[in-house]
Formats: sequence, structure tokens, C-alpha cells
Amino acid sequence: MAVSRALLLLAQALGLAVTEMALLTTDPPWSVIFQGESVTLRCQGPRVHGQQPTAWYHNDKLLEHTETNTYRIQNARYKENGRYECQSPGSTSSNSITLSVSYDLLILQVPSHAVFEGELLLMRCRGWKAGSLAAVRYYRDGTDITKLYTSAEQLSIPQAKTHHSGRYHCSADMHSFLSLKKRESQGLYVSVKELFTSPVLSVDSSTEPLEGSPLNLSCITQLSPYRPHTVLWYLFYGNSTVLRGPTTSSKYQVPTVGLMDTGFYSCEVRTESSSVQKWSPQVPITIKRVPISGVSLEVWPQEGQVMEGQRLVLHCSVAVGTGSISFSWHREGSAEVLGRSRSYEIPSTQQSDNGQYYCMASNGDSPARSLLVKVTVVGVSSLCCSHVRALLLPAALGTLLLGVVVVHVLIAWSRAKRNKAPNAHGSIYTSISCAPREDV
Ligand SMILES: *[C@@H]1O[C@H](CO)[C@@H](O)[C@H](O)[C@H]1NC(C)=O
Ligand SMILES: *[C@@H]1O[C@H](CO)[C@@H](O)[C@H](O)[C@H]1NC(C)=O
Repeated sequence: MAVSRALLLLAQALGLAVTEMALLTTDPPWSVIFQGESVTLRCQGPRVHGQQPTAWYHNDKLLEHTETNTYRIQNARYKENGRYECQSPGSTSSNSITLSVSYDLLILQVPSHAVFEGELLLMRCRGWKAGSLAAVRYYRDGTDITKLYTSAEQLSIPQAKTHHSGRYHCSADMHSFLSLKKRESQGLYVSVKELFTSPVLSVDSSTEPLEGSPLNLSCITQLSPYRPHTVLWYLFYGNSTVLRGPTTSSKYQVPTVGLMDTGFYSCEVRTESSSVQKWSPQVPITIKRVPISGVSLEVWPQEGQVMEGQRLVLHCSVAVGTGSISFSWHREGSAEVLGRSRSYEIPSTQQSDNGQYYCMASNGDSPARSLLVKVTVVGVSSLCCSHVRALLLPAALGTLLLGVVVVHVLIAWSRAKRNKAPNAHGSIYTSISCAPREDV
């Protein structure tokens, strides 16, 4: 049975067309009857209308095939005690019902079918001879519960809860010959079954989502396969106030979350009539700021080279990060905070402003730091010297070049003299040697 139920659930999960379980009920709806009484078993298969041939099982043995979906037990005897199941075409084997044929004088009649939370739980105390009972009392686990639930000679709990499960019995005064005698029924265990499991709120991805990201919540519960047509309604709560629902969707999506969405979340599942309501535990969800990263620094003039007295501007920017961002400016080796805005400006630079600068950006927790930028303030005096140096270098190179040329000319001239050949290129050498001279 457990295996077939698991397969049924699996098939449902896979979205397959499944053969439904047949539903076996009795009329009257009691699991205990007196000997000699009659009861009709009814098998409800997937075909609601029209009769269908049905197979009947008693204590796992095939009892009979019937042309209709009912099986009648008349004048019940001890041999009819036991477990019954049925199967109709196109259905899996039904739930089982245990029938007990009693020879006692006082019986407690409890439902033959499974009772689920939210449903009516009815029971009846009966004597062997009708009309002979007085002072009927009902007990659960030994406690007298007559006052709470009894009316019109039966015990009635309109919306049963699982905590109503227990061992029930009744007592009554019965006429016995000419005297009244108090009798007790046998105790019977009645179980009120869970219609659906207590829900759990599931958070897809993290319970600490980043600001601006989606938040997907699912309310997870498992409906009993014996009550597959129950419609469940879902509600979603944030800080105990309803955010969504009642809705038939078990999912709730916030497309983009903000810091205000931080809170305690939970969900509720209920039946349409609210006969059963269950709440999930609360789940704390904390929306986090997107941490700051990619802090970069720009500097004007570029390269951080600035003439003394000129303006220097540093600008801090952040590539990633949400929320209000605070900035601070620092110079390496100093604890002093130079500024607290996005840009830092020195209107007139001094030699003392030389150094390595950086900025820090923060949106809450840990601040992120930029790379260092070197600022060089070029003083007026050193500026003059560097100009002189710039002039001297080409001068020295020019002199060197001229020296080389002069040496060449001298060598060529001495060769020509040695060969005693007429100097055809004399004019050229002369013109070179007449090139403008630099003082050495
Ligand atoms: C949240 O739900 C949306 C819409 O169904 C879906 O596109 C997205 O992938 C889901 N996100 C997560 C983290 O499950
Ligand atoms: C929940 O309560 C906290 C604290 O009062 C508040 O900051 C937050 O915005 C609330 N969240 C929601 C979803 O109402």
C-alpha cells in the first residue's frame, strides 16, 4: 500500500495521467456493528456515474466479483470480521476498512473511514436493545468528554484536530432484568489524520539576498493522497502582516528587494473554509547592501604632476555598490582624514602636498579602498633648473657631433696630402669645415 501510494505521488509529480485509488465506504458509516446487523460496502472508482464491475477482498483474499459497486453483508457474523478492500476498473486497490462484528451488550460505533483534520468526527454509543440506555457518557483516553461534544445521543466533533486522536469508549446504564446496570464499551483507537503537513517556508537562493535582487518564497506542504481534491490556500507574511493571499499559488515573488524588506517571513496554509489552518515557522530574511568594489581614483592634472600654486583635483568613483556611499580622503602615512566628499581639491598646491593619496568608499560595513595616486608638486626653483638642463643636453650633443666631423675632415685631408693627388673634393671639405661652429 505504501509503495503504491509512493508511486501514485511520483506519477502525480511527473504529471502523468494516473489511475485513481478507489474509495471504499460503508453504510452505515461505522466500523463496529452488532451481530445480525447489515452493512453495505460501496466502492467508488474513477467512473463516478454508472455501475461498474467490482472485485472485493476480505483479509487480502478475493471474496467476490460483483456487477455493481456495492457489496452487502446481511446478518453479520463473527466470520465477517476483518479487513475489506475493493477494486474497480481503472483504479488501484482502495483504502481498507476494518469491520468488527460485536457480540457485546454495549458498543461504541466509530467511523469506518479515515477522518481527516477539519472533518466531522462522529461516534455513537449503542446498546444491544434499542432504547434501553440511560446516562450515556463518552471518554477519550479515560477522560470524560461527554459535556463538551455530546448532543442527540451521539458524540460530535465538528472540525476534528489531530489532538482529538485517542482511545475512545462509552459507558451507559442498561436495563438488565429488573435493575439498571452500568456497562462500558470496549475502547477503540480513533486517529484524526493530518490533511496536509505543517508548512515550511522555503527561500530560493539565500536568506540574505542583495538589495535589488529578486526574492522567491515557496510555502511547502504535502497534501494527503487520500484527499487529492482538497483546494489549499496560501498566505505569506512579513513581520506577521499579510503580504500576499489568500491565493492558490504556493509561491510568492518580490522582483526586487530593498532594505525595507528585511524581516521575519512565514506562510500559512488553510482549507477554503478555514477548517484547517497551519503556520510555518518564521524565517529571518536580511536584505544586504551590494558591497562596494572597484573604487578608482582620477587626478587632474593627469599623472599627478602639478606646478606649485596650481590647482589639484582628485575624484573618487565606485563601480559596484548600492545605497548611500560615504567617501573619505587620506594621504599614505597619515591618519588625518583630508575630506569627506566624492572629490578632493587642493586649490593651490605646495611642496608639502607631495605624497601618495587614496580614497575610501563605504555603504555600511567594511569600506573599500582605491589604489594610491602619486602627487608630485613641482616647485618654481627646480622648474628653472630643469629648463637649463633641458637646454644643456642638445648643446653637449651638438659639440660632440661637430668634434666627430672635424676629426673626419682632418683624416681625409691628411690622406689626400699623402697621396699627392689633386683634391677634387676640396671645396666640399671646405664647406663642411665651414659649418657653423658651436663653442666647446
Ligand atoms: C525567481 O522566480 C522567477 C520567476 O519565476 C524566476 O525567473 C527566477 O529564476 C527565480 N529565482 C530564483 C533564485 O529561484
Ligand atoms: C520588519 O520590521 C523591521 C523592524 O521593525 C523593519 O525594519 C522592516 O522594514 C519590517 N519588514 C517588513 C517586511 O515589514
